[in-house]
Amino acid sequence: MFDQAQALRNNTLTNDVRIIMVTSGKGGVGKSIIAANIAVLLAKTGKSVLLFDADVGFANSDILLGVTPKNTLKDFFLNKKDLRDIVYPTKYGVWLLSSGADVQDIVVFKSESKNRLFGDFLRFAQSMDYIIIDTGTSMSYFDELRGLYEVIDSLILVTTGEPTALMNTYTIAKLMAMRGITPEVHVVVNMAKNIRSARRILERFVMVLERFAGIDVTEQHIMIFDNSVKNSVVNQIPLVEHSARSQPSLCIRRITNMILKSEELGVGKFGFVEKIKSIFGIGG
Ligand SMILES: Nc1ncnc2c1ncn2[C@@H]1O[C@H](COP(=O)(O)OP(=O)(O)OP(=O)(O)O)[C@@H](O)[C@H]1O
Ligand SMILES: [Mg+2]
Repeated sequence: MFDQAQALRNNTLTNDVRIIMVTSGKGGVGKSIIAANIAVLLAKTGKSVLLFDADVGFANSDILLGVTPKNTLKDFFLNKKDLRDIVYPTKYGVWLLSSGADVQDIVVFKSESKNRLFGDFLRFAQSMDYIIIDTGTSMSYFDELRGLYEVIDSLILVTTGEPTALMNTYTIAKLMAMRGITPEVHVVVNMAKNIRSARRILERFVMVLERFAGIDVTEQHIMIFDNSVKNSVVNQIPLVEHSARSQPSLCIRRITNMILKSEELGVGKFGFVEKIKSIFGIGG
C-alpha cells in the first residue's frame, strides 16, 4: 500500500511534477512570451500548470496573462503573506506566481521562512503537473542555483541570431554541461527574418553546443519575427489564443507537444519533494 509519510521520507511522492525552464543569455529575446504560451497550451490539454515568473528585469507574465498580481514571493518572505495570497489563478487555467525578486535573492532568504514556504508550496504543487520557470539572464548566482538547474526536466534555451545572444546563451549551456546537468534541451532561435538564414545559424549553433559544450540537443526550433507577437502583447491575450495559426504560435505549439511527449515517455530522475525544494534553494 502506498504510504505518503514513507514516500515523503524517501523523498518521493507518486505525483511527478515536471519542471520546465525557459532561459537565455540575453534579455528581450522572447523568453516570457514562450514561457507564458507553453503554460497556456499545457493548461488547455487539461494539465495543472504554475507559471513562475522569476524575472524582475521585466516581469511581464502578468501582462501576458492579463492579471495583475498584487503580491509576489517577496511579500511572502518580507510581509508574511500566505501562499494563497501570492499564487494567482488566470482565466487561461494557468496559476501565476511572480517572484518580485531575482531567484538569486530568494536563495538567500532566511531558511526559517523557506521552510514555511516549502511546507505550503509542497501542498500546492502536489496538484500541479507542470511548473514553468521564466528566468532572468544573470548567471552570477549559477552555483547557488545549481540545485534548481539539476531538477529541470526540459530546458528551453532561447536566443536570437545575434552573435552576442548566441555567445551568452552558449555560456549558460556550457556551465550546465560542465556541472553534469543534462535535461532535455530545446534550442529556439527567435525573431528570425526568414527561415532559411535562421536555419543556417541554428545548425551552426547546435553543432557548437554539441561539439564544444557537450550538450545533447533534443530539438531545434525557429520562430520568425512576426507582428502577431507584439499585437498579442498589446492586447494582453496570449499569442496562442490571439493568433493561433501564426508561425511563432505554431512553433510554441510544437515545443509544447514535444514536452507532453517526453512526459509520456519518461519518469524524471528526481522525486517530487526534491524538485520542490530545489526551486527555492532549500538544501538537505
Ligand atoms: N517572434 C517575435 N516576433 C516579433 N516580436 C517578438 C517576437 N518574440 C518576441 N517579440 C517581442 O519582444 C518583446 C520581448 O519579449 P519577451 O518579453 O518575451 O522577452 P524576454 O526574453 O522575456 O525579455 P526579458 O529578458 O526582458 O525578460 C515582446 O514584447 C515582443 O513584442
Ligand atoms: Mg521576460
